[in-house]
Parts: sequence; structure tokens; C-alpha cells
Amino acid sequence: MTDMIDMNDLKTELIQMVEAANDLSALEAARVAALGKKGKITEQMKGLGKMDPDARKEAGAALNLLKDEIAALIDKQERALKKQALDERLDTEKADVTLSPRPEAKGSIHPISQTMDELVSIFGSMGFKLAEGPDIEDDWHNFTALNFPPGHPAREMHDTFYLPDDPDEQGEAAKKLLRTHTSTVQIRAMQEQGVPIKIVVMGRTYRSDYDITHTPMFHQCEGLVIDKDIHMGHLKGCLMDFARAYFEMDDLPVQFRPSFFPFTEPSAEMDIGCSRKDGGLKIGAGDDWLEILGCGMVHPNVIKNCGLDPDEYQGFAWGLGVERIAMLKYGIPDLRTFFESDVRWLEHYGFDPLDRPNRATK
Ligand code: DAH
Repeated sequence: MTDMIDMNDLKTELIQMVEAANDLSALEAARVAALGKKGKITEQMKGLGKMDPDARKEAGAALNLLKDEIAALIDKQERALKKQALDERLDTEKADVTLSPRPEAKGSIHPISQTMDELVSIFGSMGFKLAEGPDIEDDWHNFTALNFPPGHPAREMHDTFYLPDDPDEQGEAAKKLLRTHTSTVQIRAMQEQGVPIKIVVMGRTYRSDYDITHTPMFHQCEGLVIDKDIHMGHLKGCLMDFARAYFEMDDLPVQFRPSFFPFTEPSAEMDIGCSRKDGGLKIGAGDDWLEILGCGMVHPNVIKNCGLDPDEYQGFAWGLGVERIAMLKYGIPDLRTFFESDVRWLEHYGFDPLDRPNRATK
């Protein structure tokens, strides 16, 4: 094949072949037939050597051009076929979004996360905003500002984990520790956020303790309300409503017992009614009481320490152990098991991620 007429015939033939390919495997066959080692264009290329120089130059250039054209046409055809295949799949394959998820490999929500979500949901429905603070605190936020004077015996009750002093800070701010309670966030809120305040805090707390009801890391839920004219009646109403919502018992008996915390005056502990028979505990009406939280009216010294005037602002606060109330509601006997990451325990006590209880569903 040495003249341009033959070249045109070849071109027409190859174009027809590529355009006739109506799926990807036919197109691949066409590519091999045109450009493969034994393909039509390659065969012609092999013949160039026998030509005289002028004809070879002309035919070589024409063949290269044809090769590029056919390669570009194959690319174009390939894109068109792929798009067509995708369109067909999109038309025929339908995802049924109403199908339930596959049962295998289902995770579960840890009872601590579940309980904290329930607490946020209950206090959130009463208008509390979620607040947080750092796990690494200093002596002032954890103790002094909360009216624990230096050397006060109540400090010893906390079995604090102390960290090395911070060389960039002075005095009490340099004395770093892992917070022993979330009451530190009361101080931060009063100092940083301004009044009025209505917050609920969820967080990790740390004490050097380990037995059936204590782990070195545990969780607390703290609440703080600061405004003008806040009194003990607000505290009682709020915490009674909380306990009845959390334990899902409208007639749950509740009592407040006098207690002591340095940062509240008066201080109280709240008990819920229960009965203890044959070694078992049943929450609800009964002849016994069970303590679930500490609370009180914020001590005027604490309000003063945060730069507010206690004659103008008062408030109430509470603190409760998240593990403890999770154990009570869900019948978990040993606090340490919360953090052992035993999959069988999680399967037993965990919650279905697609069935989260909240204030709307309860
Ligand atoms: N911070 C206390 C503790 O960890 C609990 C507590 C008691 C918090 C009374 C409060 C409160 O806000 O008013 O033992």
C-alpha cells in the first residue's frame, strides 16, 4: 500500500470498525485489530522499509497521522461506552434506602455515653446549656476558688493526682492537677461567661481510688444556675424533675438531707426512694433511701472569688457521678467493668445506636 487512495480506504475501514464496537470488549478487539502488534496500521508501518525514500517519508507521515486519529477515536468511543454503561446501571440499579441495615458488625453505644446523652437531653429540655472545661486544672480552680482554703481537710478527701508544677505560671496557677470534680467549670463559667448562667457540664474527673464503686477516672455531671433571686425552691424543683425524668417514674420519692461542701451553703444530698430486700435494690417507693447527688446554694465566697457581687447574684449547683446513676438505672453491679472494654459486656449493656432514647421518644 503505497498511495494515498489506499490510505483513505484504510482510514474509512478503521473508523467503521471502531464506531461499530458497541461494548468495551468489542472496542478492545478493534484497538488490537488497528493498532496492535499485528494490527492493520502496524502492518503498513512494517512495509515502509521497502519503499523508496520520498514515498516512505510521505506514507510514514500519513500513517502516523492515521494512527493518532484512530487512537483518539478509540478514546472517544471508550468514554462514550463507559458513560452509556454507567447511565444504564443508574437506570436499572436502585438503592432501597428503606431497607434496614445489615445486622452484622453492629456496634453499640457505651452506657456512659448513653447516660450522658440522657442527662443532656433532660437538662437541655429545662433550658440548660452544655459547658465544658479542661481535665488538667490548677489548684485555684479545683480548690481555692471553690472555697477550700489552703490546708483545709476537705482537700485531702479528694485523693488528687498532682502533676509537676508549670514553670510558666506563678503561685496556685502553677500547681497543676487532674481535676477531681467538674465543679471547676462553675468557676470558669462565672469568670468567662458572665451572668445569668444556666449550664450543665459533662466530663471526666480523676481521683486515686480503685474498688467496686471507684475507678481513677470517672465522669461527673455538674449543674450551675446563677441569677438574681434564685433560691432553694428552684434547686429542689429542678432536681426532683430531673430524678423523676431520668428514672422514668413520675411518683419517685425524693428527699434532701443536710450535708457539707465547702462551695455551697446550705449544702444537701439528694436521696431517692428505694427498697432493699433479699440483697436486691429496687428504685421507687419503699422504706429506704439511696443517695444520688450532692447539691446546694452556691457559697457567697465562691461568687465573690469569681468577681460577682453575692448580694446581687445567687445560685444553686449540683454534682453527680455518671457511672453511679448509670449503674442504678441499668443494673450494672461493678463500676470497674465500665472501662475494661470487654466486648461481651458492651454487647450486654450497650445501647442500639439506631434506637437512642431521648426526651422526644420517652
Ligand atoms: N464536687 C462534688 C464532689 O465531687 C459534688 C458536688 C456537690 C457538686 C455539691 C456541686 C454541689 O456542684 O453543689 O464530690
